[in-house]
Amino acid sequence: MTYPVPVTEPVELAPETFLVTNMVQLGPGQFLSVNSMLIRGEEPVIVDTGAPMHRELWLDQVFNLVDPKDVRWVFLSHDDGDHIGALHDVLDLCPNATLVANFFTTERLRLEQPLPLPRMIWREPGEYFDAGDRRLRLVLPPIFDGPTTRGLLDERTGVMWAVDSFAALVPEVVHHAQDVPSDLYNESFAMLNSLISPWHQWLDPIRYGHHIDSVEAHRPAVVATAHGPVLTGPAIHDAFDQVRDMAGQPVTDRPRQSVLEELLADLKQPERQP
Ligand SMILES: [Fe+2]
Ligand SMILES: [Fe+2]
Repeated sequence: MTYPVPVTEPVELAPETFLVTNMVQLGPGQFLSVNSMLIRGEEPVIVDTGAPMHRELWLDQVFNLVDPKDVRWVFLSHDDGDHIGALHDVLDLCPNATLVANFFTTERLRLEQPLPLPRMIWREPGEYFDAGDRRLRLVLPPIFDGPTTRGLLDERTGVMWAVDSFAALVPEVVHHAQDVPSDLYNESFAMLNSLISPWHQWLDPIRYGHHIDSVEAHRPAVVATAHGPVLTGPAIHDAFDQVRDMAGQPVTDRPRQSVLEELLADLKQPERQP
């Protein structure tokens, strides 16, 4: 069964900082976020560029908030398809923007379409770039599904972009963790974060705990993520703790052939008449 793409609005995370929200519906009462972010400061920064399926919507959402000519930075967290949907449109439409990427992203994306080297800077976790009225620090998120991944901390507002970490389903078009029933949040959090990073099963809990501590030590005020609701207050520490506890634990069970067969059976059902 396919569902229409829900219409969603940007969410203000901090002054001049917006979560650009999109979603896909996976089933009744089950939505997956596909977010990116815009920091509309002195030197506006686009943070990831959405998924190809939302490309037109995403371009409208972002360029309703900022004039393309004003965009100075495009931060690319990693080269996964759901984060680069409008990347080349943005590079074409924003002639004053510099792309913040890294060596391996550049190499991996070159196989599809080369990136403009003279318009780039390369940054790795622990490094920074300055966007006028704020410094943006790159961090290695606790959970990630691509080797090029770097998250971002806005040192001015305390907003952290956690990329693919802290994914969780939401029951409808809602964007804050406190609006998600705890059973749906906890079950989908465990499943999605394990799906994204199956390597958690081999982690030493003490060494991994040091990494989690080092990210949480930045004390983000707001944590925004590509595939889950926005975290504030105690929900931030809870999320760090939930991934901390994944070290050395078995991966969650994956949907298997029987699920594919159910999906195929659904496809064969005649459309119900209204
Ligand atoms: Fe990813
Ligand atoms: Fe992603």
